[in-house]
Amino acid sequence: MAAMTDTPPKRGLARNTANYGDKDFALYLRRSFAKSMGYSQTMLEKPVVGIVDTGSDYNNCHRTVPDLIEAVKRGILAAGGLPLAFPTVSLCEPSLFPTSMHYRNLAALDTEAMLTAQPMDAVVMIGGCDKTVPAQLMGAASADIPAVQLVTGPMLATPFQGERLSACTDCRRYWAQYRAGTVSQERIGVLEGRLATTAGTCGVMGTASTMACIGETLGMIPLGHGSIPAVHADRLRAAEEAGARAVWLIENPIKPSRIMTEHSVENALRVLLALGGSTNALIHLTAIAGRVGVKIDLRKLNALSDSTPVLVDLKPTGEGYMEDFHAAGGMPALLWELRDLLHMDPIDITGVPLGERLVEPAFVDRRYIRERAKPVSPVGGIVSLFGSLAPRGAILKRSAATESLFETEARAVVFDGLEDLANRIDDPGLDVTAEDILVLKNAGSLTPAGMPEAGYLPIPSRLARAGVKDMVRMSDCRMSGTAFGTIVLHITPEAAAGGPLALVESGDRIRLSVKDRSLDLLVPEDELARRRALWSPPAKPKRGWDRLIADQVLQADEGCDLAVLRAEG
Ligand code: FES
Repeated sequence: MAAMTDTPPKRGLARNTANYGDKDFALYLRRSFAKSMGYSQTMLEKPVVGIVDTGSDYNNCHRTVPDLIEAVKRGILAAGGLPLAFPTVSLCEPSLFPTSMHYRNLAALDTEAMLTAQPMDAVVMIGGCDKTVPAQLMGAASADIPAVQLVTGPMLATPFQGERLSACTDCRRYWAQYRAGTVSQERIGVLEGRLATTAGTCGVMGTASTMACIGETLGMIPLGHGSIPAVHADRLRAAEEAGARAVWLIENPIKPSRIMTEHSVENALRVLLALGGSTNALIHLTAIAGRVGVKIDLRKLNALSDSTPVLVDLKPTGEGYMEDFHAAGGMPALLWELRDLLHMDPIDITGVPLGERLVEPAFVDRRYIRERAKPVSPVGGIVSLFGSLAPRGAILKRSAATESLFETEARAVVFDGLEDLANRIDDPGLDVTAEDILVLKNAGSLTPAGMPEAGYLPIPSRLARAGVKDMVRMSDCRMSGTAFGTIVLHITPEAAAGGPLALVESGDRIRLSVKDRSLDLLVPEDELARRRALWSPPAKPKRGWDRLIADQVLQADEGCDLAVLRAEG
Protein backbone atom coordinates (compact mmCIF):
# COMPACT_ATOMS: atom_id res chain seq x y z
CA MET A 1 0.00 0.00 0.00
CA ALA A 2 1.29 3.50 -0.83
CA ALA A 3 2.40 5.63 2.11
CA MET A 4 0.19 8.66 2.92
CA THR A 5 3.00 10.97 1.85
CA ASP A 6 3.34 9.41 -1.64
CA THR A 7 2.57 11.80 -4.48
CA PRO A 8 -0.38 10.57 -6.54
CA PRO A 9 0.65 9.42 -10.02
CA LYS A 10 0.51 12.18 -12.61
CA ARG A 11 -2.39 11.93 -15.04
CA GLY A 12 -3.31 13.54 -18.32
CA LEU A 13 -1.41 16.66 -19.29
CA ALA A 14 0.43 16.56 -15.96
CA ARG A 15 2.40 13.52 -17.11
CA ASN A 16 5.91 13.89 -18.49
CA THR A 17 6.16 17.66 -18.13
CA ALA A 18 9.01 19.31 -20.03
CA ASN A 19 12.25 19.61 -18.14
CA TYR A 20 12.55 23.31 -17.23
CA GLY A 21 13.60 22.60 -13.65
CA ASP A 22 10.17 23.77 -12.39
CA LYS A 23 7.41 21.17 -12.87
CA ASP A 24 4.57 23.49 -11.89
CA PHE A 25 5.70 26.09 -14.42
CA ALA A 26 6.09 23.39 -17.06
CA LEU A 27 2.47 22.29 -16.54
CA TYR A 28 1.26 25.90 -16.43
CA LEU A 29 3.01 26.55 -19.73
CA ARG A 30 1.69 23.34 -21.28
CA ARG A 31 -1.92 24.18 -20.33
CA SER A 32 -1.52 27.74 -21.47
CA PHE A 33 -0.36 26.59 -24.90
CA ALA A 34 -3.05 23.90 -25.04
CA LYS A 35 -5.66 26.58 -24.40
CA SER A 36 -4.52 28.30 -27.57
CA MET A 37 -6.13 25.34 -29.33
CA GLY A 38 -9.48 26.19 -27.76
CA TYR A 39 -9.70 23.52 -25.07
CA SER A 40 -11.56 24.41 -21.86
CA GLN A 41 -10.06 23.87 -18.41
CA THR A 42 -12.55 21.02 -17.92
CA MET A 43 -11.28 19.21 -20.98
CA LEU A 44 -7.65 19.75 -20.07
CA GLU A 45 -8.21 18.10 -16.69
CA LYS A 46 -9.46 14.87 -18.23
CA PRO A 47 -7.31 11.78 -18.73
CA VAL A 48 -5.58 11.89 -22.09
CA VAL A 49 -5.75 9.24 -24.80
CA GLY A 50 -3.26 9.68 -27.61
CA ILE A 51 -4.23 8.56 -31.10
CA VAL A 52 -1.45 7.57 -33.46
CA ASP A 53 -2.27 9.05 -36.86
CA THR A 54 -0.53 7.28 -39.75
CA GLY A 55 -2.63 8.84 -42.47
CA SER A 56 -0.55 9.93 -45.44
CA ASP A 57 -1.09 10.86 -49.05
CA TYR A 58 1.57 8.27 -49.78
CA ASN A 59 -0.33 5.50 -48.02
CA ASN A 60 -3.38 4.17 -49.88
CA CYS A 61 -3.88 1.49 -47.22
CA HIS A 62 -4.36 4.25 -44.63
CA ARG A 63 -6.79 6.38 -46.67
CA THR A 64 -9.53 5.97 -44.06
CA VAL A 65 -7.42 7.05 -41.11
CA PRO A 66 -9.06 10.51 -40.84
CA ASP A 67 -12.50 8.88 -40.52
CA LEU A 68 -11.16 6.37 -38.01
CA ILE A 69 -9.63 9.14 -35.91
CA GLU A 70 -13.01 10.89 -35.75
CA ALA A 71 -14.67 7.66 -34.59
CA VAL A 72 -11.93 6.96 -32.02
CA LYS A 73 -12.34 10.50 -30.68
CA ARG A 74 -16.09 9.91 -30.32
CA GLY A 75 -15.42 6.85 -28.23
CA ILE A 76 -12.86 8.64 -26.04
CA LEU A 77 -15.02 11.70 -25.46
CA ALA A 78 -18.11 9.64 -24.62
CA ALA A 79 -16.05 7.66 -22.10
CA GLY A 80 -14.72 10.80 -20.43
CA GLY A 81 -11.25 11.20 -21.94
CA LEU A 82 -9.46 13.89 -23.91
CA PRO A 83 -8.40 12.59 -27.33
CA LEU A 84 -5.19 13.98 -28.81
CA ALA A 85 -4.15 12.70 -32.22
CA PHE A 86 -0.54 12.97 -33.38
CA PRO A 87 1.32 11.85 -36.49
CA THR A 88 4.03 9.27 -36.74
CA VAL A 89 5.92 7.79 -39.66
CA SER A 90 3.57 6.16 -42.18
CA LEU A 91 4.85 3.18 -44.17
CA CYS A 92 3.14 2.06 -47.35
CA GLU A 93 4.50 -1.07 -48.94
CA PRO A 94 4.72 -0.01 -52.61
CA SER A 95 5.59 3.64 -51.89
CA LEU A 96 9.00 3.26 -50.27
CA PHE A 97 12.52 2.86 -51.57
CA PRO A 98 14.38 0.61 -51.12
CA THR A 99 11.63 -1.17 -49.17
CA SER A 100 9.28 -0.42 -46.29
CA MET A 101 11.12 -3.00 -44.17
CA HIS A 102 14.11 -0.67 -44.16
CA TYR A 103 11.99 1.79 -42.16
CA ARG A 104 9.95 -0.50 -39.89
CA ASN A 105 12.35 0.05 -36.99
CA LEU A 106 12.28 3.81 -37.60
CA ALA A 107 8.48 3.74 -37.26
CA ALA A 108 8.79 1.59 -34.14
CA LEU A 109 11.31 4.02 -32.64
CA ASP A 110 9.12 7.00 -33.57
CA THR A 111 6.08 5.33 -31.97
CA GLU A 112 7.96 4.40 -28.80
CA ALA A 113 9.48 7.87 -28.48
CA MET A 114 6.19 9.73 -28.96
CA LEU A 115 4.28 7.38 -26.63
CA THR A 116 6.95 7.97 -24.00
CA ALA A 117 7.65 11.67 -24.48
CA GLN A 118 4.14 13.08 -24.86
CA PRO A 119 1.61 13.18 -22.04
CA MET A 120 -0.93 10.37 -22.47
CA ASP A 121 -2.47 7.84 -20.14
CA ALA A 122 -3.33 5.39 -22.90
CA VAL A 123 -3.11 5.26 -26.68
CA VAL A 124 -5.02 4.00 -29.70
CA MET A 125 -2.61 3.14 -32.50
CA ILE A 126 -4.05 3.22 -36.00
CA GLY A 127 -2.09 1.19 -38.50
CA GLY A 128 -2.74 -1.25 -41.28
CA CYS A 129 -0.18 -1.63 -44.04
CA ASP A 130 2.37 -4.40 -43.57
CA LYS A 131 4.95 -2.61 -41.45
CA THR A 132 2.87 -0.14 -39.45
CA VAL A 133 1.15 -2.70 -37.22
CA PRO A 134 4.36 -4.52 -36.22
CA ALA A 135 6.13 -1.18 -35.74
CA GLN A 136 3.34 0.05 -33.49
CA LEU A 137 3.24 -3.15 -31.46
CA MET A 138 7.02 -3.01 -31.05
CA GLY A 139 6.81 0.63 -29.95
CA ALA A 140 3.95 -0.03 -27.54
CA ALA A 141 5.74 -3.03 -26.05
CA SER A 142 8.79 -0.89 -25.28
CA ALA A 143 6.88 2.20 -24.11
CA ASP A 144 4.63 -0.13 -22.11
CA ILE A 145 1.69 2.17 -21.65
CA PRO A 146 -1.90 0.89 -22.04
CA ALA A 147 -2.46 0.60 -25.78
CA VAL A 148 -5.18 -0.52 -28.18
CA GLN A 149 -4.29 -1.48 -31.74
CA LEU A 150 -6.79 -0.44 -34.39
CA VAL A 151 -6.24 -1.57 -37.97
CA THR A 152 -7.61 0.14 -41.05
CA GLY A 153 -9.00 -3.20 -42.27
CA PRO A 154 -8.78 -5.04 -45.59
CA MET A 155 -10.04 -3.78 -48.94
CA LEU A 156 -12.91 -5.52 -50.73
CA ALA A 157 -12.32 -7.76 -53.73
CA THR A 158 -13.54 -6.45 -57.09
CA PRO A 159 -15.86 -8.48 -59.33
CA PHE A 160 -14.24 -8.46 -62.78
CA GLN A 161 -15.22 -10.46 -65.86
CA GLY A 162 -16.49 -13.46 -63.93
CA GLU A 163 -13.82 -13.57 -61.23
CA ARG A 164 -12.86 -11.50 -58.19
CA LEU A 165 -9.62 -9.55 -57.92
CA SER A 166 -7.74 -8.06 -55.00
CA ALA A 167 -4.26 -6.89 -54.21
CA CYS A 168 -1.95 -8.44 -54.45
CA THR A 169 -1.94 -12.16 -55.14
CA ASP A 170 -3.89 -11.46 -58.30
CA CYS A 171 -1.40 -8.70 -59.22
CA ARG A 172 1.39 -11.25 -59.09
CA ARG A 173 -0.59 -13.96 -60.87
CA TYR A 174 -1.40 -11.67 -63.79
CA TRP A 175 2.09 -10.17 -63.90
CA ALA A 176 3.56 -13.70 -64.15
CA GLN A 177 1.17 -14.38 -67.05
CA TYR A 178 2.15 -11.09 -68.68
CA ARG A 179 5.82 -12.08 -68.40
CA ALA A 180 4.98 -15.47 -69.87
CA GLY A 181 3.26 -13.74 -72.80
CA THR A 182 -0.23 -15.08 -72.08
CA VAL A 183 -1.66 -11.71 -70.98
CA SER A 184 -1.42 -8.79 -73.41
CA GLN A 185 -0.05 -5.32 -72.75
CA GLU A 186 -3.54 -3.88 -73.16
CA ARG A 187 -5.13 -6.32 -70.70
CA ILE A 188 -2.44 -5.85 -68.03
CA GLY A 189 -3.17 -2.11 -68.30
CA VAL A 190 -6.90 -2.66 -67.73
CA LEU A 191 -6.17 -4.97 -64.80
CA GLU A 192 -4.01 -2.30 -63.17
CA GLY A 193 -7.19 -0.35 -62.46
CA ARG A 194 -9.18 -3.32 -61.11
CA LEU A 195 -6.81 -4.91 -58.59
CA ALA A 196 -7.30 -2.48 -55.70
CA THR A 197 -10.56 -0.58 -55.97
CA THR A 198 -11.50 0.25 -52.37
CA ALA A 199 -9.72 1.71 -49.39
CA GLY A 200 -7.95 -0.72 -47.11
CA THR A 201 -5.08 -3.13 -46.86
CA CYS A 202 -4.41 -5.97 -49.30
CA GLY A 203 -7.44 -8.22 -49.46
CA VAL A 204 -5.67 -11.56 -49.11
CA MET A 205 -3.86 -13.29 -46.26
CA GLY A 206 -0.74 -11.22 -46.91
CA THR A 207 1.41 -9.61 -44.27
CA ALA A 208 -1.06 -6.88 -43.28
CA SER A 209 -3.91 -9.34 -42.77
CA THR A 210 -1.67 -11.84 -41.02
CA MET A 211 -0.45 -9.14 -38.64
CA ALA A 212 -4.02 -8.07 -37.91
CA CYS A 213 -4.88 -11.68 -37.00
CA ILE A 214 -1.73 -11.90 -34.90
CA GLY A 215 -2.69 -8.62 -33.19
CA GLU A 216 -5.99 -10.23 -32.21
CA THR A 217 -4.26 -13.37 -30.98
CA LEU A 218 -1.73 -11.41 -28.97
CA GLY A 219 -4.62 -9.60 -27.33
CA MET A 220 -3.89 -6.08 -28.56
CA ILE A 221 -6.92 -5.99 -30.91
CA PRO A 222 -10.36 -7.07 -29.66
CA LEU A 223 -11.37 -10.48 -31.01
CA GLY A 224 -13.19 -10.16 -34.32
CA HIS A 225 -12.05 -6.61 -35.04
CA GLY A 226 -8.93 -7.27 -37.12
CA SER A 227 -10.67 -8.51 -40.25
CA ILE A 228 -13.57 -6.03 -40.51
CA PRO A 229 -13.34 -4.61 -44.03
CA ALA A 230 -12.02 -1.05 -44.26
CA VAL A 231 -15.18 0.35 -45.85
CA HIS A 232 -17.67 -1.45 -43.59
CA ALA A 233 -19.59 0.66 -41.03
CA ASP A 234 -18.50 -1.87 -38.37
CA ARG A 235 -14.95 -0.63 -38.91
CA LEU A 236 -16.00 2.80 -37.58
CA ARG A 237 -17.84 1.20 -34.67
CA ALA A 238 -14.66 -0.78 -33.89
CA ALA A 239 -12.78 2.53 -33.88
CA GLU A 240 -15.31 4.07 -31.48
CA GLU A 241 -14.98 1.01 -29.25
CA ALA A 242 -11.18 1.27 -29.37
CA GLY A 243 -11.41 4.83 -28.04
CA ALA A 244 -13.72 3.78 -25.21
CA ARG A 245 -11.50 0.78 -24.41
CA ALA A 246 -8.46 3.03 -24.13
CA VAL A 247 -10.25 5.18 -21.53
CA TRP A 248 -11.24 2.01 -19.64
CA LEU A 249 -7.58 0.97 -19.68
CA ILE A 250 -6.65 4.15 -17.80
CA GLU A 251 -8.71 3.02 -14.81
CA ASN A 252 -7.68 -0.59 -15.37
CA PRO A 253 -4.07 -0.21 -16.46
CA ILE A 254 -3.20 -3.40 -18.29
CA LYS A 255 0.11 -2.77 -19.98
CA PRO A 256 1.27 -4.44 -23.20
CA SER A 257 3.92 -6.35 -21.23
CA ARG A 258 1.12 -8.21 -19.39
CA ILE A 259 -0.66 -9.00 -22.64
CA MET A 260 2.20 -9.93 -24.96
CA THR A 261 3.73 -12.83 -23.04
CA GLU A 262 5.44 -16.11 -23.88
CA HIS A 263 2.06 -17.86 -24.02
CA SER A 264 0.32 -15.28 -26.20
CA VAL A 265 3.33 -15.23 -28.52
CA GLU A 266 3.18 -19.01 -28.84
CA ASN A 267 -0.55 -18.76 -29.58
CA ALA A 268 0.28 -16.19 -32.26
CA LEU A 269 2.79 -18.59 -33.82
CA ARG A 270 0.12 -21.30 -33.94
CA VAL A 271 -2.26 -18.87 -35.60
CA LEU A 272 0.36 -17.80 -38.14
CA LEU A 273 0.74 -21.47 -39.10
CA ALA A 274 -3.00 -22.17 -39.18
CA LEU A 275 -3.60 -19.14 -41.37
CA GLY A 276 -1.00 -20.22 -43.91
CA GLY A 277 0.07 -16.68 -43.09
CA SER A 278 2.82 -14.45 -44.37
CA THR A 279 6.45 -15.37 -43.80
CA ASN A 280 7.11 -11.71 -43.02
CA ALA A 281 4.91 -12.03 -39.97
CA LEU A 282 7.43 -14.42 -38.47
CA ILE A 283 10.10 -11.72 -38.56
CA HIS A 284 7.69 -9.15 -37.14
CA LEU A 285 6.40 -11.43 -34.39
CA THR A 286 10.01 -12.25 -33.47
CA ALA A 287 10.77 -8.53 -33.22
CA ILE A 288 7.64 -7.79 -31.15
CA ALA A 289 8.37 -10.71 -28.83
CA GLY A 290 11.98 -9.54 -28.52
CA ARG A 291 10.71 -6.24 -27.13
CA VAL A 292 9.15 -8.07 -24.17
CA GLY A 293 12.05 -10.47 -23.71
CA VAL A 294 10.44 -13.49 -25.39
CA LYS A 295 12.62 -15.44 -27.83
CA ILE A 296 11.16 -17.28 -30.80
CA ASP A 297 13.10 -20.43 -31.55
CA LEU A 298 12.89 -21.56 -35.18
CA ARG A 299 13.31 -25.21 -34.11
CA LYS A 300 10.28 -24.78 -31.86
CA LEU A 301 8.48 -23.37 -34.88
CA ASN A 302 9.00 -26.70 -36.64
CA ALA A 303 7.51 -28.58 -33.71
CA LEU A 304 4.49 -26.27 -33.72
CA SER A 305 4.22 -26.49 -37.49
CA ASP A 306 4.05 -30.28 -37.37
CA SER A 307 1.13 -30.15 -34.95
CA THR A 308 -0.82 -27.19 -36.34
CA PRO A 309 -3.07 -27.68 -39.38
CA VAL A 310 -3.69 -24.98 -41.95
CA LEU A 311 -7.39 -24.23 -41.53
CA VAL A 312 -7.84 -20.98 -43.44
CA ASP A 313 -8.47 -21.19 -47.16
CA LEU A 314 -7.53 -17.75 -48.46
CA LYS A 315 -5.23 -16.50 -51.18
CA PRO A 316 -2.30 -16.76 -51.68
CA THR A 317 -2.44 -20.38 -50.47
CA GLY A 318 -6.16 -20.96 -51.13
CA GLU A 319 -9.14 -19.29 -52.74
CA GLY A 320 -10.89 -16.75 -50.53
CA TYR A 321 -10.35 -13.10 -49.66
CA MET A 322 -10.28 -11.35 -46.29
CA GLU A 323 -13.93 -10.31 -46.55
CA ASP A 324 -14.78 -14.03 -46.86
CA PHE A 325 -12.69 -14.82 -43.77
CA HIS A 326 -14.46 -12.10 -41.81
CA ALA A 327 -17.93 -13.23 -42.90
CA ALA A 328 -16.94 -16.84 -42.21
CA GLY A 329 -16.41 -16.07 -38.53
CA GLY A 330 -12.93 -14.50 -38.48
CA MET A 331 -10.50 -15.01 -35.65
CA PRO A 332 -13.10 -15.99 -33.01
CA ALA A 333 -14.05 -18.97 -35.20
CA LEU A 334 -10.44 -19.88 -35.98
CA LEU A 335 -9.32 -19.69 -32.35
CA TRP A 336 -12.30 -21.82 -31.32
CA GLU A 337 -11.25 -24.44 -33.86
CA LEU A 338 -7.67 -24.40 -32.53
CA ARG A 339 -8.61 -24.17 -28.85
CA ASP A 340 -7.02 -27.43 -27.69
CA LEU A 341 -3.67 -26.27 -29.14
CA LEU A 342 -3.71 -22.85 -27.49
CA HIS A 343 -2.77 -21.48 -24.09
CA MET A 344 -5.96 -20.28 -22.46
CA ASP A 345 -4.44 -17.98 -19.83
CA PRO A 346 -3.33 -14.96 -21.91
CA ILE A 347 -5.41 -11.87 -21.24
CA ASP A 348 -6.20 -9.19 -23.81
CA ILE A 349 -6.95 -5.48 -23.51
CA THR A 350 -10.20 -6.35 -21.74
CA GLY A 351 -8.26 -8.19 -19.03
CA VAL A 352 -10.16 -11.42 -19.74
CA PRO A 353 -8.24 -14.69 -20.32
CA LEU A 354 -8.57 -16.26 -23.77
CA GLY A 355 -10.37 -19.26 -22.30
CA GLU A 356 -13.20 -17.01 -21.14
CA ARG A 357 -13.33 -15.01 -24.36
CA LEU A 358 -13.75 -17.99 -26.65
CA VAL A 359 -17.29 -19.15 -27.32
CA GLU A 360 -18.55 -21.66 -29.83
CA PRO A 361 -19.49 -19.68 -32.95
CA ALA A 362 -23.11 -19.87 -34.07
CA PHE A 363 -22.02 -19.99 -37.71
CA VAL A 364 -18.80 -20.78 -39.53
CA ASP A 365 -18.47 -20.81 -43.31
CA ARG A 366 -16.40 -23.93 -43.80
CA ARG A 367 -15.30 -22.90 -47.27
CA TYR A 368 -12.90 -20.45 -45.65
CA ILE A 369 -12.37 -21.68 -42.07
CA ARG A 370 -12.10 -25.43 -42.13
CA GLU A 371 -12.90 -27.77 -39.30
CA ARG A 372 -10.03 -29.72 -37.79
CA ALA A 373 -11.14 -32.96 -39.43
CA LYS A 374 -10.95 -31.41 -42.91
CA PRO A 375 -7.95 -29.05 -42.91
CA VAL A 376 -6.47 -27.33 -45.93
CA SER A 377 -3.28 -29.08 -44.84
CA PRO A 378 -2.73 -31.32 -41.80
CA VAL A 379 0.49 -29.44 -40.98
CA GLY A 380 1.39 -25.77 -40.63
CA GLY A 381 2.12 -23.40 -43.48
CA ILE A 382 5.74 -22.52 -42.61
CA VAL A 383 8.78 -24.64 -41.78
CA SER A 384 12.29 -23.65 -40.85
CA LEU A 385 15.34 -25.25 -42.43
CA PHE A 386 18.84 -25.63 -41.04
CA GLY A 387 22.09 -26.82 -42.53
CA SER A 388 25.46 -25.80 -43.89
CA LEU A 389 23.85 -23.09 -46.05
CA ALA A 390 21.71 -21.75 -43.19
CA PRO A 391 23.40 -22.38 -39.82
CA ARG A 392 20.93 -20.11 -38.00
CA GLY A 393 17.98 -21.08 -40.14
CA ALA A 394 15.92 -20.24 -43.18
CA ILE A 395 12.23 -20.63 -43.82
CA LEU A 396 9.94 -22.00 -46.49
CA LYS A 397 6.22 -21.40 -46.83
CA ARG A 398 5.33 -24.94 -47.76
CA SER A 399 1.62 -24.12 -48.02
CA ALA A 400 2.38 -21.83 -50.98
CA ALA A 401 5.03 -24.10 -52.55
CA THR A 402 5.08 -26.95 -55.07
CA GLU A 403 5.27 -30.27 -53.22
CA SER A 404 7.15 -32.03 -56.03
CA LEU A 405 10.06 -29.61 -55.43
CA PHE A 406 10.29 -30.25 -51.68
CA GLU A 407 13.16 -32.71 -52.10
CA THR A 408 15.56 -31.13 -54.56
CA GLU A 409 19.30 -31.44 -55.17
CA ALA A 410 20.37 -29.25 -58.02
CA ARG A 411 22.82 -26.82 -59.54
CA ALA A 412 22.84 -23.23 -58.27
CA VAL A 413 22.44 -20.28 -60.61
CA VAL A 414 23.65 -17.38 -58.48
CA PHE A 415 22.90 -13.67 -58.62
CA ASP A 416 25.20 -11.45 -56.54
CA GLY A 417 22.56 -8.87 -55.73
CA LEU A 418 19.42 -7.17 -56.97
CA GLU A 419 21.18 -5.32 -59.76
CA ASP A 420 22.79 -8.48 -61.04
CA LEU A 421 19.41 -10.19 -60.87
CA ALA A 422 17.70 -7.42 -62.84
CA ASN A 423 20.48 -7.38 -65.44
CA ARG A 424 20.66 -11.10 -66.13
CA ILE A 425 17.44 -12.90 -65.21
CA ASP A 426 15.84 -12.37 -68.62
CA ASP A 427 19.06 -12.65 -70.63
CA PRO A 428 18.27 -15.22 -73.34
CA GLY A 429 21.85 -16.46 -72.95
CA LEU A 430 21.52 -17.18 -69.21
CA ASP A 431 22.64 -20.75 -68.51
CA VAL A 432 19.58 -21.95 -66.57
CA THR A 433 17.07 -24.80 -66.72
CA ALA A 434 13.82 -25.37 -64.84
CA GLU A 435 15.63 -27.95 -62.68
CA ASP A 436 18.21 -25.45 -61.38
CA ILE A 437 18.01 -23.52 -58.11
CA LEU A 438 17.99 -19.73 -58.43
CA VAL A 439 20.04 -18.12 -55.63
CA LEU A 440 20.03 -14.43 -54.73
CA LYS A 441 22.54 -13.12 -52.21
CA ASN A 442 23.39 -9.72 -50.71
CA ALA A 443 19.77 -8.69 -50.22
CA GLY A 444 19.48 -9.14 -46.45
CA SER A 445 18.74 -6.63 -43.71
CA LEU A 446 22.37 -5.40 -43.50
CA THR A 447 22.51 -4.35 -47.15
CA PRO A 448 21.39 -1.04 -48.65
CA ALA A 449 18.66 -3.10 -50.33
CA GLY A 450 17.06 -3.37 -46.89
CA MET A 451 15.85 -6.98 -47.12
CA PRO A 452 13.24 -6.34 -49.80
CA GLU A 453 10.46 -8.69 -50.85
CA ALA A 454 12.62 -9.88 -53.71
CA GLY A 455 12.75 -13.53 -52.64
CA TYR A 456 10.06 -14.22 -55.21
CA LEU A 457 12.71 -14.21 -57.94
CA PRO A 458 11.03 -14.07 -61.33
CA ILE A 459 11.12 -17.22 -63.41
CA PRO A 460 13.59 -16.40 -66.23
CA SER A 461 11.35 -15.22 -69.08
CA ARG A 462 12.70 -17.87 -71.46
CA LEU A 463 11.49 -20.55 -69.03
CA ALA A 464 8.27 -18.71 -68.16
CA ARG A 465 7.37 -18.55 -71.84
CA ALA A 466 8.02 -22.28 -72.06
CA GLY A 467 5.40 -22.83 -69.37
CA VAL A 468 7.55 -23.13 -66.22
CA LYS A 469 5.40 -21.97 -63.28
CA ASP A 470 7.69 -22.65 -60.32
CA MET A 471 11.31 -23.46 -59.53
CA VAL A 472 13.29 -23.59 -56.29
CA ARG A 473 14.48 -20.12 -55.39
CA MET A 474 16.41 -19.02 -52.32
CA SER A 475 17.82 -15.86 -50.81
CA ASP A 476 18.57 -13.87 -47.68
CA CYS A 477 15.67 -11.52 -48.32
CA ARG A 478 11.91 -11.72 -47.83
CA MET A 479 8.85 -12.47 -49.91
CA SER A 480 5.54 -10.67 -50.04
CA GLY A 481 2.86 -12.37 -48.00
CA THR A 482 0.77 -12.34 -51.15
CA ALA A 483 3.29 -14.35 -53.20
CA PHE A 484 3.63 -18.07 -53.83
CA GLY A 485 6.25 -20.57 -55.04
CA THR A 486 8.94 -22.93 -53.72
CA ILE A 487 10.94 -20.16 -52.17
CA VAL A 488 13.46 -20.39 -49.34
CA LEU A 489 13.76 -17.11 -47.48
CA HIS A 490 15.62 -15.35 -44.65
CA ILE A 491 18.78 -17.47 -45.00
CA THR A 492 20.68 -16.64 -41.81
CA PRO A 493 23.35 -15.40 -41.39
CA GLU A 494 22.82 -13.34 -44.54
CA ALA A 495 25.55 -12.99 -47.16
CA ALA A 496 26.51 -9.47 -46.06
CA ALA A 497 27.10 -10.80 -42.55
CA GLY A 498 29.51 -13.38 -43.92
CA GLY A 499 27.13 -16.33 -43.86
CA PRO A 500 27.83 -19.35 -46.06
CA LEU A 501 25.42 -17.85 -48.61
CA ALA A 502 28.16 -15.31 -49.39
CA LEU A 503 30.33 -18.17 -50.66
CA VAL A 504 27.89 -19.84 -53.05
CA GLU A 505 28.87 -19.76 -56.73
CA SER A 506 27.01 -20.73 -59.88
CA GLY A 507 27.49 -24.39 -60.54
CA ASP A 508 27.61 -25.40 -56.86
CA ARG A 509 25.13 -28.04 -55.80
CA ILE A 510 22.56 -27.34 -53.12
CA ARG A 511 20.26 -29.80 -51.39
CA LEU A 512 16.84 -28.77 -50.09
CA SER A 513 14.92 -31.30 -48.04
CA VAL A 514 11.62 -30.22 -46.53
CA LYS A 515 11.27 -33.71 -45.07
CA ASP A 516 14.56 -33.35 -43.15
CA ARG A 517 14.11 -29.58 -42.64
CA SER A 518 17.55 -29.10 -44.16
CA LEU A 519 19.35 -26.79 -46.53
CA ASP A 520 22.92 -27.69 -47.44
CA LEU A 521 25.63 -26.37 -49.68
CA LEU A 522 27.41 -29.38 -51.17
CA VAL A 523 30.86 -27.85 -51.52
CA PRO A 524 33.98 -29.31 -49.85
CA GLU A 525 35.14 -27.51 -46.72
CA ASP A 526 38.60 -26.66 -48.13
CA GLU A 527 37.03 -24.97 -51.15
CA LEU A 528 34.74 -22.96 -48.87
CA ALA A 529 37.77 -21.95 -46.78
CA ARG A 530 39.51 -20.75 -49.96
CA ARG A 531 36.49 -18.65 -50.92
CA ARG A 532 36.10 -17.29 -47.37
CA ALA A 533 39.66 -16.02 -47.40
CA LEU A 534 38.79 -13.95 -50.47
CA TRP A 535 35.53 -12.57 -49.04
CA SER A 536 35.29 -9.15 -47.41
CA PRO A 537 32.26 -7.47 -45.83
CA PRO A 538 30.52 -4.72 -47.80
CA ALA A 539 31.39 -1.11 -46.99
CA LYS A 540 29.00 0.55 -44.55
CA PRO A 541 26.99 3.62 -45.56
CA LYS A 542 28.65 6.76 -44.20
CA ARG A 543 25.76 8.43 -42.38
CA GLY A 544 22.11 8.67 -41.47
CA TRP A 545 19.52 5.96 -40.96
CA ASP A 546 21.34 3.63 -43.36
CA ARG A 547 24.42 3.81 -41.14
CA LEU A 548 22.39 3.17 -37.99
CA ILE A 549 20.89 0.12 -39.69
CA ALA A 550 24.30 -1.15 -40.77
CA ASP A 551 25.63 -0.78 -37.21
CA GLN A 552 22.62 -2.07 -35.34
CA VAL A 553 20.28 -4.30 -37.30
CA LEU A 554 19.98 -7.90 -36.17
CA GLN A 555 19.51 -10.95 -38.35
CA ALA A 556 16.18 -12.47 -39.34
CA ASP A 557 16.16 -14.98 -36.48
CA GLU A 558 16.14 -12.00 -34.11
CA GLY A 559 13.41 -10.17 -35.97
CA CYS A 560 15.71 -7.68 -37.75
CA ASP A 561 15.19 -5.28 -34.87
CA LEU A 562 17.88 -2.81 -33.87
CA ALA A 563 20.07 -4.31 -31.16
CA VAL A 564 19.59 -1.35 -28.81
CA LEU A 565 15.82 -1.54 -29.05
CA ARG A 566 15.33 -5.08 -27.82
CA ALA A 567 14.21 -5.68 -24.26
CA GLU A 568 17.73 -6.36 -23.08
CA GLY A 569 19.13 -3.52 -25.17
FE1 FES B 1 -0.58 -1.94 -47.78
FE2 FES B 1 -0.65 -4.41 -49.09
S1 FES B 1 0.19 -2.49 -49.78
S2 FES B 1 -1.36 -3.85 -47.11
